[in-house]
Amino acid sequence: MTQIHDRLLIIDFGSQVTQLIARRLRELNVYCEIHPYQKVTDAFLAEFAPKGVILSGGPASVIDVDSPRPPSTVFDINVPILGICYGQQVMMEVLGGKVESGHGTKEFGRAYVTPTADKLTLLDGWFADTREQVWMSHGDHVSKIAPGFEVFGTSPNAPFAITADTSRNFFAVQFHPEVHHTPNGAKLYENFVKMAGFKGDWTMGAYREEAIAKIREQVGDEKVICGLSGGVDSSVAAVLIHEAIGDQLTCVFVDNGLLRKGEAEEVVTMFRDNYKMPFIHADERELFLGELDGQSDPETKRKIIGRLFIDVFQKHAGEVGGAKFLAQGTLYPDVIESVSFSGGPSVTIKSHHNVGGLPEKMGMKLVEPLRELFKDEVRALGRELGLPAAFIGRHPFPGPGLAIRCPGEITRPKLEILREADAVYIDQIRKHGLYDEIWQAFVAILPVRTVGVMGDGRTYDFACALRAVTSVDGMTADYYPFTHEFLGETATRIINEVPGINRVTYDITSKPPGTIEWE
Ligand code: XMP
Repeated sequence: MTQIHDRLLIIDFGSQVTQLIARRLRELNVYCEIHPYQKVTDAFLAEFAPKGVILSGGPASVIDVDSPRPPSTVFDINVPILGICYGQQVMMEVLGGKVESGHGTKEFGRAYVTPTADKLTLLDGWFADTREQVWMSHGDHVSKIAPGFEVFGTSPNAPFAITADTSRNFFAVQFHPEVHHTPNGAKLYENFVKMAGFKGDWTMGAYREEAIAKIREQVGDEKVICGLSGGVDSSVAAVLIHEAIGDQLTCVFVDNGLLRKGEAEEVVTMFRDNYKMPFIHADERELFLGELDGQSDPETKRKIIGRLFIDVFQKHAGEVGGAKFLAQGTLYPDVIESVSFSGGPSVTIKSHHNVGGLPEKMGMKLVEPLRELFKDEVRALGRELGLPAAFIGRHPFPGPGLAIRCPGEITRPKLEILREADAVYIDQIRKHGLYDEIWQAFVAILPVRTVGVMGDGRTYDFACALRAVTSVDGMTADYYPFTHEFLGETATRIINEVPGINRVTYDITSKPPGTIEWE
């Protein structure tokens, strides 16, 4: 299928903030992709046919012999190029300038850039205030600019903070315009994409049409199955695919007995009753809870759930008969191959539950219509497709469900208490209008009983912990600063309304050092 949108290529040299460049561009309705520099060969460039290129920052030093380089042809394809930090340095080195190391010119953090006399289109809207705050993070610096380049901005430690070769539309900046600490940075990107001729036509309406055409082309007359978790990603993927191929899609929803109160009914009503999709509601509560019986080790629980999920899914998928495709709600951050310079395996903190490995095992091909989207874009697509706002705004819920909110042994009575307490807590949060400010909120039931007094009697019931965090991507998180009134009122409600709990605590651990879930 022909590519409808102009594309911008971000060549990644391993900066921690490369994804932010993509975010800034998507906000300008420009379609872009991030690819590691090793992958960007001449053939790749020819096929990708970018209308503009950005060279990201990165931790390497261009002075090192084996430091990463873009293919030299990138400078011959006649499109505007913007080099950022390491991207600037590598551009200078390759095009005939010079880069030197440190010695008093290392710069990390806030800096101020002032303009030189000449005007540059890239800087339209800059320097209204004579100087601009920018974010620097570099050890090396450019000591001689390449032939054809001029200086358009300087900072005390970076005399070549902004340089350009206007005849070729090559731009190179030492700072990071993509981070929030460069408050006017978005404007640079806006000017850059305008100069490169991008129309800004990457909208959700256009994406929807394009994605539907792609799904039809990929799937033809074949059948597709989709594992629905009730989460936003798989739901949006299912509705989009259903719009493309109608009843060729069957959704499989596995009730593993570890869902929240009313969750199974909500998902069934939404997809089977409202959308009238072919739908398998697999009630596998006995199987999951049976195998989890007596298990208290967090990793063992996770592995059991992961294994059973694959078995069950496979069994029910068989009922559809001859499905050749498996749909998944994979998002762009899962797809980006980031550049790793350390090369070492990272430590497994938790074995995340997902259906990875399933397609190979089942000999199926994947349909992943959200592969190009970030989470907030998936939400925008969901709105475009008419999914209810409350559904789209739901907090993330982990694959292993309530199992990882029930430290120690999982029993049915404990799960029941947990469901009720969680429902009261979420109701409180909604009533106080706080739901959308919080990334995730839930109750964990603790494996201890404590003594209490209610009326004139002694109680000996479970303690629970409330958790609520703010976060951008779940990688780091802060506890939510509820008022004491809110916490007091919620504790009272839970103890009064949920038999089995007589003590409520609030978890004020951030991530790191904690994790969001308790297991
Ligand atoms: P942690 O607890 O690792 O969680 O700080 C970060 C985010 O990931 C979610 N989470 C999972 N999601 N399968 C998932 O689909 C899992 O196995 C899993 N474990 C944790 C968690 O809810 C939070 O949003």
